[in-house]
Amino acid sequence: MTASALASSPLDRGGDRTPVVRVDTAEVARQHALLTAALPGVRLHYAVKANPAHQVLRTLAELGCRWDVASPGEIDAVLCAGGDPADMSYGNTVKRAADIAYAFAAGVRRFTFDAVGELNKLTEHAPGSTVMVRISTSGAGADWALGGKFGCPPDVAARLLEQAVRAGHRVGVAFHVGSQQRDPQAWDEPLATTSALRRVVRACGADLAVVDLGGGLPASTLEPTRGLADYGAAITASLHRHLGPDLPEVMAEPGRAMVADAGTLDTEVVLVSERSGVPWVYLDAGVFTGLVETVGEAIRYRIEALRDGAPLLGPTRPVVLAGPTCDSLDVLYAEHRYPLPADLRPGDRLRLHSAGAYTASYSTIGFNGFAPLREEFR
Ligand SMILES: Cc1ncc(COP(=O)(O)O)c(C=O)c1O
Repeated sequence: MTASALASSPLDRGGDRTPVVRVDTAEVARQHALLTAALPGVRLHYAVKANPAHQVLRTLAELGCRWDVASPGEIDAVLCAGGDPADMSYGNTVKRAADIAYAFAAGVRRFTFDAVGELNKLTEHAPGSTVMVRISTSGAGADWALGGKFGCPPDVAARLLEQAVRAGHRVGVAFHVGSQQRDPQAWDEPLATTSALRRVVRACGADLAVVDLGGGLPASTLEPTRGLADYGAAITASLHRHLGPDLPEVMAEPGRAMVADAGTLDTEVVLVSERSGVPWVYLDAGVFTGLVETVGEAIRYRIEALRDGAPLLGPTRPVVLAGPTCDSLDVLYAEHRYPLPADLRPGDRLRLHSAGAYTASYSTIGFNGFAPLREEFR
C-alpha cells in the first residue's frame, strides 16, 4: 500500500489521532541559537536526515544555516526550502556516480569520502571540489555509534589526502564521534589525528581547507548529559590545542541537537496485558512507526503518561513497552522497565519527549497497514 493510499484509508482518521510528532519551529530556532553560541566561529551545517520536513528546513534557511545532505532527495528538499547549494556539504561517504554528478551540476562543491573508489568518482564527477576524508572514531561514549560503517584509519586517510591534493582538490578532514555522544571530550582524539594529517597535507605543499566536527551533540534523553555550552567549551579547547593558532575553516553537522528537543511524540495505549507475570503496555507507535532508535534500547526517551490531556500521577509499576505490529522486533523497551502508572489503560496516552529527530523520517510507509508517522508543526 502506498503512503498516499494510506493517507486516505480509514486508518488515517485525521484530527487528533496518534501517533503524531509535534515540532515547534520556534524551538528549532532556539536550538540553532544555542548551538551558534556554544560553537563560536564554527559553521553549522544542519544534518537534514534528522528531520527533513519543509517547515524545519525553512526555519533554518531563514536563519542562514548551512546543510549536510546525504542524497539528491535531500539536496532537492533544501533547494525547495530556499537553501543555497554553495552552503551544502554532501556528507554521505557512499554515493552513486550519478548522484555526485547531480549534486555537482546543482552547485554542490563539498563532499566527504573514506575510500579510494569514492575519491576517484569525486575526481571524475566533481572536479576541483573540496573533498573531506572521513576518519574513523571509536564511537565510545555515544548512545548511537556510527564508527562501524564509516571512516578510515589515519594511515589510509594520509594516502587518500595525498592523492586528493595531487588530483587538484582542496582537502579537509571529517569525523563523527557517534550520535548522542555523552562525553564532551570525545572530539579531542580525532582532532589530534586531524593535526597529524594536516602535517601530511602541508608536506604536499597544500593545507587543510576545512575540518568537519560532524554531529554527536546530544538531546535531552532519560540519562542526563552536560549542556551544549560544556560541549562547546571542550571542543573549542581541543580545536585550539591541536590546530591553533592558524585554524582552518571549521564546520559541524548537528542533527539531533538541532531538532530533537523541539519535538514530542504522542502515542495511544492500545493494550495492557501480562506476559509471564510482567506487565506489557502496547502502543500505537513502534519501531516501524518512527521509533527505530529504540532498537537495542539505544535512545531512551523521557516518557510522560496522560489521560484526557492531563498528567497521570499516582503509583507506578515497571512495564515492558511494545509497538502495535505483528513483528517481534517491535518491542521498544524490555531491559529498561519504565515506571508507568499502575492504572494505565487503553485510550491513555504516552508522550515521548525530545522526539523531533530521527522519528518521522525513519517511519515505514505502511508496514502492517499502519499509516506513516504523522508530523505537525507550529
Ligand atoms: C555525516 C553525518 N553528519 C551528521 C550527522 C548528524 O549526527 P547527530 O544527529 O548526532 O548530530 C550524521 C548522523 O548520522 C551523519 O551521518
